Amino acid sequence: MTSILEGINSTADVTLSDDPLERVIGQQHAVSLVRSAVAQRRHILLCGAPGIGKSMLARAAYSLLPPPKEEIWLQRNPSQPDRPFVKATLVEAESCTNESPAEKPELTYIRPETLPFEIAAKMGYRCPACGAFSFPSQSVCMDCHGPKRSDWSEPASYHGLLRELSVISEPAQTSVTRIEGTYKLTYRRTFDDAIMVLHEREFDIETPQIENDDNRVLVSRDSSRFVHVSGSSPVELLGDVKHDPYGSAESLGMAAHLRVVPGAIHEAHEGILYVDEIASLGEYQKHLLTAMQDRKYPISGRNPNSSGAAVRVDDIPCDFQLFAACNVEDLPRIVPPLRSRIRGYGYEIMLNSTMSKSDQNMQDLVYFIAQTIEEDGRIPHLTTAAIESVIKVAEEMASRLDGQRTAFTLRLRELGGLVRIAGDIAVQDSEDLVLSEHVLKAETLSRGIGNGENLGHYPGRNREISKSYGDYFL
Ligand SMILES: Nc1ncnc2c1ncn2[C@@H]1O[C@H](COP(=O)(O)OP(=O)(O)OP(=O)(O)O)[C@@H](O)[C@H]1O
Ligand SMILES: [Mg+2]
Repeated sequence: MTSILEGINSTADVTLSDDPLERVIGQQHAVSLVRSAVAQRRHILLCGAPGIGKSMLARAAYSLLPPPKEEIWLQRNPSQPDRPFVKATLVEAESCTNESPAEKPELTYIRPETLPFEIAAKMGYRCPACGAFSFPSQSVCMDCHGPKRSDWSEPASYHGLLRELSVISEPAQTSVTRIEGTYKLTYRRTFDDAIMVLHEREFDIETPQIENDDNRVLVSRDSSRFVHVSGSSPVELLGDVKHDPYGSAESLGMAAHLRVVPGAIHEAHEGILYVDEIASLGEYQKHLLTAMQDRKYPISGRNPNSSGAAVRVDDIPCDFQLFAACNVEDLPRIVPPLRSRIRGYGYEIMLNSTMSKSDQNMQDLVYFIAQTIEEDGRIPHLTTAAIESVIKVAEEMASRLDGQRTAFTLRLRELGGLVRIAGDIAVQDSEDLVLSEHVLKAETLSRGIGNGENLGHYPGRNREISKSYGDYFL
């Protein structure tokens, strides 16, 4: 153990990664599958004991997603008020919050020779007739002596004359836009022989909508697209329409499009829908499956006695990536078509509840302790002796909870709890560092509460898990 702690005096000397996926300890297999799942937008089922990093993996995966491209809007339908229109509008990439400035297109300067021919002619760098180069300030081609603007040769109508007069003083446009692939490129003359190229956003972006009585945003670009669902409420999952005693009656009631409540499936559009304890969704798993297949799902009022039941909005986009979590014993309660969909278009991952006793894994535990302190922000760092004590507890937990004698636990929520209690005791003792004795006291304290069972340990059940399901994959 000493070799792992060589060169450090406390956890303050440990350098931590900023990559949220690298901060997940002991689940390398899951981490690499999650990385490829995010790249391919695949669904994931995470299975395993409590507190081993299921939610943490899903949140880390979200940080890898590009910013959303669409906002979802609802619009009043004057001819059928109970059937509001839905519209997905593209948002400007540069206004999205999680875009790093480095990803913004850079300005480039080019020389006139590299301009496309027609742009060079329009900007006055080339003669449209013979193609010779000259400065835009020269209105006549030095080679063929013709006018450099093709429209000068148009009949000299009154308008043509005016145009001619104005272009004589300024013979070329200073800025020309053209569409290339999905980009608008604007070439702007900065000085005579250099042109600035502005890579503009994708050109089919619409002008931003404005909320008013007729239009409202249902899922905005600023809302987090990581949506956590737990429990079995269909309203939370699929959305609803609020009741109004006057229904959608003009000028009395609240218009239908204003009463629609988005479901988690809609709020997670282009993001991640994290469903904890997926089996507890019961029959609504089938609705979830339909939404996953169709990538759009209607919202209607769920209470038949409410005026909301009369309202329905079809085809609301919900193109989410599902991260579902469950315990092993709940696997049979996941409806077969949903599991088959996840298997076919994603991954089922069994997370480890222990890791072998190697130097690398010991090192990872040290990272974990340092992470816990950084995230808590209120407790002092651990001395190396205190780190050793936590590592011993990790070993003891693997044996007690999972029947693994030469392993470390990965029930890291609990191990983190122990570190935090030890930190609090050190603070009470006015110590600058957490000492080994604080860790031992913390352990006795947590055991005193009920020998582990009351803290969410399920020894019998978890021994069964590790026996029947091997390391991580179903
Ligand atoms: N593999 C891990 N690596 C690093 N930290 C972890 C890991 N597992 C758990 N933790 C720590 O424990 C906390 C709780 O973990 P998390 O909420 O992800 O567990 P979970 O598997 O979702 O549990 P539950 O089944 O109760 O929802 C995390 O915020 C993190 O601090
Ligand atoms: Mg969780």
